[in-house]
Amino acid sequence: MVDSGAVSLSPVIRPLLPADVPAAAAVGGAALSDQIPAEFLPSTPIERAHVVRRQQARVAHLLGTDPDGVWVAELAGEVVGVALGLVREDVWGLSLLGVRPGLQGQGIGGPLLRAALAYGDGRRGAIILSSTDPRAMRSYARAGFAIRPALAAAGQINRSRIPDGLRSRPGDPTADAELLDAASRHARGASHRRDLQAFLNAGDRLLVLDGRGFAIHRGGSPILVAAFDPEGAADLMWSCLADGPAGGTVHVDYVTAGNDWAVEVALDAGLALSPDGPVFVRGDTGPLAPYLPSGAYL
Ligand SMILES: CC(C)(COP(=O)(O)OP(=O)(O)OC[C@H]1O[C@@H](n2cnc3c(N)ncnc32)[C@H](O)[C@@H]1OP(=O)(O)O)[C@@H](O)C(=O)NCCC(=O)NCCS
Repeated sequence: MVDSGAVSLSPVIRPLLPADVPAAAAVGGAALSDQIPAEFLPSTPIERAHVVRRQQARVAHLLGTDPDGVWVAELAGEVVGVALGLVREDVWGLSLLGVRPGLQGQGIGGPLLRAALAYGDGRRGAIILSSTDPRAMRSYARAGFAIRPALAAAGQINRSRIPDGLRSRPGDPTADAELLDAASRHARGASHRRDLQAFLNAGDRLLVLDGRGFAIHRGGSPILVAAFDPEGAADLMWSCLADGPAGGTVHVDYVTAGNDWAVEVALDAGLALSPDGPVFVRGDTGPLAPYLPSGAYL
């Protein structure tokens, strides 16, 4: 056991209830914002309010879809930690694990993670997109997950490099349902369709490439790509970048082995690579390629 030098606290770990949504979202947001580069944090009150709404919507969505997978840690009646687990077609995923800054390293995250993991017991597969926090990586490795090291890419895209003849088009959750299901099942062993409306409600945009796959982007950053082949995935990723505002900064997260198509697009677009937190997996999660996972919904 690592000696953090801190006293271990005894939080109450209990299911997340509707009244906890704002506090749980705030704790998760505060825990994660330490891990996000400053240029990707909201800089105006309007942007900050938008992010708060999006964080609350994510917690509320998962409370609706996975009421047995979402947990909070309480100390003296206050929510100080949150863990959000989801199950899609028998694949478990960790959407969020966070402890209030200032209370980390004192034994709150461990029991929270165990509660969220119990919801994944006996499932076909499990996926965690880890931060680079040593406490997080230690907890996931100790829980029996295997690592899939990952890169990230970020920067301003060079629009002159956007290839001609991209074929991805705006998608429709209903009309394109079959392709959406099939591409996600191919890439990560489970459909994303249950979470699709949550993306769209948050203002994210859906693109599809007929017969090849789909992508979701937020302001030009591809926040989910699932496809059948690397060329199709590359068309989708370029189309996300092209669909964002000119001059905007984009990020591409959790690019794991087998997704060299994404590295190639990122470099061609003028983005810089950096190490990312690892992806952790257990059981059968499909090839995880061609795939860029969603931070919120895997
Ligand atoms: C990751 C996080 C949720 C863990 O919760 P926590 O309450 O801080 O963690 P705990 O005190 O329960 O410790 C978890 C493990 O890390 C170990 N640990 C504690 N401090 C540590 C440190 N400074 N370095 C390495 N390991 C440490 C603990 O010993 C424990 O391991 P053990 O169960 O084998 O003994 C929390 O630190 C956090 O919110 N981090 C920022 C947000 C984040 O990165 N979330 C993960 C997203 S994937």
